[in-house]
Amino acid sequence: MISKNMEAAINEQVNKEFYSAYLYLAMSAYCQTIGLPGFAQWMRIQYQEEILHVTKMYDYLLNQSGQVHLKAIKEPAREYGSPVEIFEHTLAHEQFITKSINTLMGLAVDERDYATQAFLQWYVSEQVEEEANVNDILAPLRMVGNDKSGLMMIDRQLAARQAPVAPATVK
Ligand code: FEO
Repeated sequence: MISKNMEAAINEQVNKEFYSAYLYLAMSAYCQTIGLPGFAQWMRIQYQEEILHVTKMYDYLLNQSGQVHLKAIKEPAREYGSPVEIFEHTLAHEQFITKSINTLMGLAVDERDYATQAFLQWYVSEQVEEEANVNDILAPLRMVGNDKSGLMMIDRQLAARQAPVAPATVK
């Protein structure tokens, strides 16, 4: 059982996670069109990660006798600039999501909703990992800039990213 207040806040986060998925799928398409298939693959897997984030929240709402309210998803941009700009945009977006998860956790603390605090802890840790992953890509990207051979090497590395493992059940 969760409060109506918490239910509304988690539904807002569901929308943000869906937007994240949309954003990374749009970035994947953009990367493909500018000749960076490894970047496109990384973004496509990031899209899958976001769907996983959404699905966990969706299941949590239902398991807690809450209502799922799927809202309209904002349209992402079609173009994202240079390779460095693509990942700078990604980092800024993940920092925005981290703040949003922290706000959600703050609400769970205020409401003494221990189940939601335990549930959100996974997202707190996940955001640390997501920001670190993006920073690990941004550092070499900033070094190579627009150097073609450097970009091709990073593109090959990003192509190796593996798909996330989806949970087996809804519980
Ligand atoms: Fe669902 Fe990338 O945060």
